[in-house]
Amino acid sequence: MTNKKGFCLWFTGLSGSGKSTLSRMLEPELRKRGCNVEILDGDEVRENLSKGLGFSKEDRDTNIRRIGYVAKLLARNGAIVMTAAISPYAEVRRQCRGMISNFVEVYADCSVEELTRRDVKGLYAKALSGEIKNFTGISDPYEVPENAEVTVNSETQSAEESVKIILDYLEANDLIPTAATANA
Ligand code: ADX
Repeated sequence: MTNKKGFCLWFTGLSGSGKSTLSRMLEPELRKRGCNVEILDGDEVRENLSKGLGFSKEDRDTNIRRIGYVAKLLARNGAIVMTAAISPYAEVRRQCRGMISNFVEVYADCSVEELTRRDVKGLYAKALSGEIKNFTGISDPYEVPENAEVTVNSETQSAEESVKIILDYLEANDLIPTAATANA
């Protein structure tokens, strides 16, 4: 059975909270079930579609609207599109939700304390020292989603557990075939 129901898995969360990791882990799982998948990753989008944009509220909103627009085009053609950008502002996330017919918001939760401890890219240290300004969670806002369809937490769950939670949600809501059906 091939999936033809397009939808958007919209990850939101602080830098380093697991958005890209989870989307990359989900990709082969979804392909196994016959789904067409695209990932719009924040860092990649900023290299291409949003080159030149900075991190002011205006630039972030422009970046997110562009991602939302492309996600809408892909999802309406039957693809599963996963977006992995911080998308810190609730209002523009709400606008994207309004544009895309099957919108599944996934909040990648993790405390700033833990992200600062991990500091995989070394950006939190720079943000705390003031070398990077307007850094989300340190010196710039992050508006926690109030109505995310799924919340995962990289502090309390393994990435595998988070992936399973997301797949379970998608199966339960008939957005993807179950692994058993897809392999039948
Ligand atoms: S968003 O706010 O517009 O959604 P996006 O996800 O595209 O952000 O980009 C975030 C990535 O840019 C971070 O993971 C980090 O690597 C980098 N970055 C550089 N400066 C900042 C900043 N001031 N705030 C947040 N992320 C930043």
